Amino acid sequence: MNAKRDFTLGVLTSGGDAPGMNATIRAVVRTALANKVEVLGIQNGYEGLINGEFQFWGARDVGGALRRGGTILQTRRSKRFMEPRGQRDAIRRINEAGINGLVVIGGDGTLSGAHVLAQQGIQVVGIPASIDNDVWGTNMSIGVDTALNTIMRAVDNLRDTASSHNRVFLVETMGRGSGYLAVLAGIICGAEMVLCPEVPTTVEKVAEAIEDAYRRGKTHAIIIVAEAANIHTTDLAHALDEMDVGFKTRVTILGHIQRGGSPTAFDRLLAARMGVKAVQVLLEGQTDVMVGLQGREIAIVPLKEVISHKRSANLEYYEMVHMLAQ
Ligand code: F6P
Repeated sequence: MNAKRDFTLGVLTSGGDAPGMNATIRAVVRTALANKVEVLGIQNGYEGLINGEFQFWGARDVGGALRRGGTILQTRRSKRFMEPRGQRDAIRRINEAGINGLVVIGGDGTLSGAHVLAQQGIQVVGIPASIDNDVWGTNMSIGVDTALNTIMRAVDNLRDTASSHNRVFLVETMGRGSGYLAVLAGIICGAEMVLCPEVPTTVEKVAEAIEDAYRRGKTHAIIIVAEAANIHTTDLAHALDEMDVGFKTRVTILGHIQRGGSPTAFDRLLAARMGVKAVQVLLEGQTDVMVGLQGREIAIVPLKEVISHKRSANLEYYEMVHMLAQ
């Protein structure tokens, strides 16, 4: 056995949970242990960091985590960490616990927090995990593929009933400020139309698309509405009910169902690759960076670049939805 390295790694998950976070934690913990590094699991994200909620983790502590949704480290959205006082308390806790480097797993807010810590001298590597896929510097964040598969199964089911009753279904997908899930869902579920924040539209245009689908002999219409679209889903439903568009309207808000569930093969593999790489670059001494998927490779991206951009939905895909809806 090699001697234990003089390095303690802390790992936390923060912000909204995403399927595959546990697979990532497992990869981080076991890669660290394989490198003779001690691991402190930090509970409850940045909130737990401020409170000093730390616990040493061994290989068995992440047993069975690979296929579980959610996060075994728990997560929070910490208001305190946004303030300088909370950040100072967090840094004091890191130093008191002898943590030499941190792996931080989460979305854009979490990665902004990682950058703040790095700027104050803490060694940090970020891993993108958020179903929204709005993190710059990576083609895919952990959890996106699983969320898309959940949406696909739900819309396939809705299509059966929509078609039997000649209805239009407005299906709302998540995404705080991004239409990524909605646009991708539009393609993989064969929707008639997608509403997303990147392309504002009007109730009249939606009504036209539905009437047109009706005239072309369709038995139903599926409209995917991003949570952040310029028209609210229930307002749209009320407006359509007052117009004669051919189909009756029903609304399904998929909500947090999209954030749960066992991760797909794609997400498990991405979690393993990113988790391993994050520990490797941390042990090489890198800091203030994120691991990201670029092409087929895991790349290293400065956190400053990540947090100063926002990844929005691909408009080519948006065009594709409407062309394929004929
Ligand atoms: O960022 C992930 C996300 O699920 C967004 O899509 C959504 O807007 C938000 O989190 C919901 O947050 P909460 O779980 O705090 O309601």
